[in-house]
Amino acid sequence: MNILLFGPPGAGKGTQSAMLVEKLGMAHLSTGDLFRAAIKGGTPLGLEAKKYSEQGKLVPDSITIGLVEEKIKDLKGVSFILDGFPRTVPQADALAGLLEKNGLNLGQAVFLSVPFDLLFRRLTGRRVCSNCGNTYHLETAPPPANSVCEKCGGTVVQRKDDMPDVIKTRLEAYEANTAPLKDYYRSRGLLTEVDGTGEVQGVFERLKTALGH
Ligand code: AP5
Repeated sequence: MNILLFGPPGAGKGTQSAMLVEKLGMAHLSTGDLFRAAIKGGTPLGLEAKKYSEQGKLVPDSITIGLVEEKIKDLKGVSFILDGFPRTVPQADALAGLLEKNGLNLGQAVFLSVPFDLLFRRLTGRRVCSNCGNTYHLETAPPPANSVCEKCGGTVVQRKDDMPDVIKTRLEAYEANTAPLKDYYRSRGLLTEVDGTGEVQGVFERLKTALGH
């Protein structure tokens, strides 16, 4: 069964996807991670995505949908968790078409619910490894004092789009484009809402229950 995990910036999608991938052995398809890797690699896709993502804006649907189509084909039938895609109604329609074309389906669309004031705190306090992407938080999961990632030895940094003015743009983009996906998936009988507040492990337990594990 393929799963969609969606919600506002900072809801914990990346954190929980990583835990689910480990528990369920599924592939993780994160458009945010794919764009960051392309930006780091300086590829044509990265140069284009950078114009939008560093300002907190959404990368155009045409670019994003093409990227996901390619990745889904590469997975060759391995079940996956979608994290950060779709985040517009046209992307959701495109996903439905893509899945049908490849004989696949979506089992559940899980919305991680977190209030806005908490999102801001999670995003401003987040630090990430510039090499492996491991995520830290200044208050709840502090990085080592020397900023050397404990997983891979890479350097721990702050994401450029985690600056307060960019976060504001991201939250606005979420409200305008992604929040409507709740109704989209509810009307298709696929929506499950999970409380994303409280400790990471507590959220994970609720998520597993919602997914029937
Ligand atoms: P993306 O990387 O997908 O960013 P996002 O959706 O804004 O999500 P985040 O990665 O910020 O948050 P998260 O929910 O994964 O939270 P996390 O687990 O890290 O996208 C980046 C950009 O790429 C977009 O702005 C856009 O430009 C572009 N893009 C991507 N997909 C696109 C698409 N489909 N269409 C168009 N453009 C697209 O947690 C956050 C922090 O909180 C961490 O520090 C973590 O340690 C901490 N934390 C997590 N859970 C808890 C908890 N339970 N308690 C305490 N702390 C917690």
